[in-house]
Amino acid sequence: MKEIVLIIRPEKLEIVKSILDEYHCGGMTISTAMGCGTQRGSLEGVNEIKGLKTNINLLPKIKVEAVVEDNILEDIFLAVIDKVGTGNVGDGKIFVRNIEQVVRIRTGERGSKAL
Ligand SMILES: Nc1ncnc2c1ncn2[C@@H]1O[C@H](COP(=O)(O)OP(=O)(O)OP(=O)(O)O)[C@@H](O)[C@H]1O
Ligand SMILES: [Mg+2]
Repeated sequence: MKEIVLIIRPEKLEIVKSILDEYHCGGMTISTAMGCGTQRGSLEGVNEIKGLKTNINLLPKIKVEAVVEDNILEDIFLAVIDKVGTGNVGDGKIFVRNIEQVVRIRTGERGSKAL
């Protein structure tokens, strides 16, 4: 099992939810976030925030976390690249973490049965 962490533009949340649903993902956790990538949130050079000069500008993003079986990872990547990508900077990233165990608290099921 792997946890995929997708950092996306807020307006792409609905399409990501439908992709995860299409691949029968057992569940998902959504959070609001602020972040920047290699452009440091801006292409316009130095920004001024509350009098503090900074060249890092954090933009609103949505973080989607979902634990899935390994065998659907690549299909999810391809669907996200196809449907979430705009071709512009700031489209986001997918990070992947190993998950050692899952327990469904209601039943005590473990592993894949608990996803
Ligand atoms: N290395 C990283 N570590 C943690 N979060 C990151 C990292 N890179 C990107 N993110 C998160 O993903 C969001 C979107 O990143 P973004 O798509 O701009 O990445 P990028 O590497 O700059 O790619 P691009 O050149 O296509 O813009 C960021 O606002 C941040 O929240
Ligand atoms: Mg970027």
